[in-house]
Amino acid sequence: MMRTQVAIIGAGPAGLLLGQLLHGRGIDTVVLERRSAEYVLSRIRAGVLENITVELLEAVGCGKRLHEEGLVHGGIDLSFEGRRHRIDIRALTGGRTVVVYGQTEVTRDLMEARRASGATTLYEADDVSLHNLDAKNPKVEFTREGRRETLECEFIAGCDGFHGVSRTSIPASSLRTYERVYPFGWLGILADVPPCHDELVYANHERGFALCSMRSRTRSRYYVQCAADEDPAAWSDERFWGELKRRLDEKTAAGVVTGPSIEKSVAPLRSFVAEPLRFGRLFLAGDAAHIVPPTGAKGLNLAASDVGYLSEALVEFYRERSEAALEAYSARALARVWKAERFSWWMTSLLHRFDDQGDFNRKIQLAELEYLVDSRAAATALAENYVGLHT
Ligand code: APR
Ligand code: PHB
Repeated sequence: MMRTQVAIIGAGPAGLLLGQLLHGRGIDTVVLERRSAEYVLSRIRAGVLENITVELLEAVGCGKRLHEEGLVHGGIDLSFEGRRHRIDIRALTGGRTVVVYGQTEVTRDLMEARRASGATTLYEADDVSLHNLDAKNPKVEFTREGRRETLECEFIAGCDGFHGVSRTSIPASSLRTYERVYPFGWLGILADVPPCHDELVYANHERGFALCSMRSRTRSRYYVQCAADEDPAAWSDERFWGELKRRLDEKTAAGVVTGPSIEKSVAPLRSFVAEPLRFGRLFLAGDAAHIVPPTGAKGLNLAASDVGYLSEALVEFYRERSEAALEAYSARALARVWKAERFSWWMTSLLHRFDDQGDFNRKIQLAELEYLVDSRAAATALAENYVGLHT
């Protein structure tokens, strides 16, 4: 039998960041993760960090490599109708920027910080199940190295992603869900080639959306919109590079340096929110509670702000024995979540090809893109969302 104050399910960025925020305030945690650490680090995800996220990582001592290796971006580019237009995010937001630093690196830094702090992380914990959620002594059961074990705790943080066990442990009558599944996916590749441009390029093209992103000055991440059930094996590198370039304006396409891919995968696009983020002593955070399509690069940033709020609430509970902040957690986090849901849905609607919506939809998209590059008011709305709304 083990005991801790807060049992954290999932060692993704949400669970690991929460663990370090609580550790820094003297609160004991145990993280239970279904996979191995190597597997967690092999997942390639987005990597655009808002200031809120950067500050939380700094607060747990994970700012050093991020500042050394992360790329500060003060703008993004929109490519459509054969031309590329810059949105000057820094100028439109009074100097705010984002940092391009891969989620894999964020996770690696958090794992290292947790290891150094001596806190317990149990990897390859199978068949996690949650019990006594509406009592003061919840517990978690799991199987590790063939043995069924019990972790007694005071709170459970469900940070186990969209397919985790936490959300589904809440009775259906106590949870409301909202969902939109988009009829397409993103085919992404990672390659050790220099990026085609020094900032991210988001392209609307009649063949479908494309995105030019990066992980460093020598590693690029590119995506093309594809069918939701696309088989990545059907895409040779040559086919990918050809399709990408066809969807970009001439100047951007000319900058693309091709090379062998080191990863190729298809991601579905989904908007999803579960409400509320609490059931008794279980609190949901990150992808366990909500999903955004990657277009706005908000997934990791929402996971970070959720656990920022949750850690404040738990600290207040242990310091003052007051449940007020825990009671406010769900509404506080959801207020930010829904705004990011709206922005991600809007960016997705603006930039993708929707087969069922016809020429009218495409003309409206192009009119909106023109409006964005011509109107300071419209561009400001994009920019302030891209760098991140505070509440
Ligand atoms: N038991 C234990 N661990 C689990 C279980 C389970 N039943 N189910 C899932 N997990 C683990 C997963 O293996 C994963 O490591 O929970 C972790 C959840 O991590 P993420 O999916 O990365 O979710 P989160 O930490 O909320 O981070 C959100 O990830 O998906 C991206 O775009 C998203 O960038 C955002 C970020
Ligand atoms: C990425 O680099 O993977 C990335 C960047 C920006 C996005 C989505 C994904 O909007």
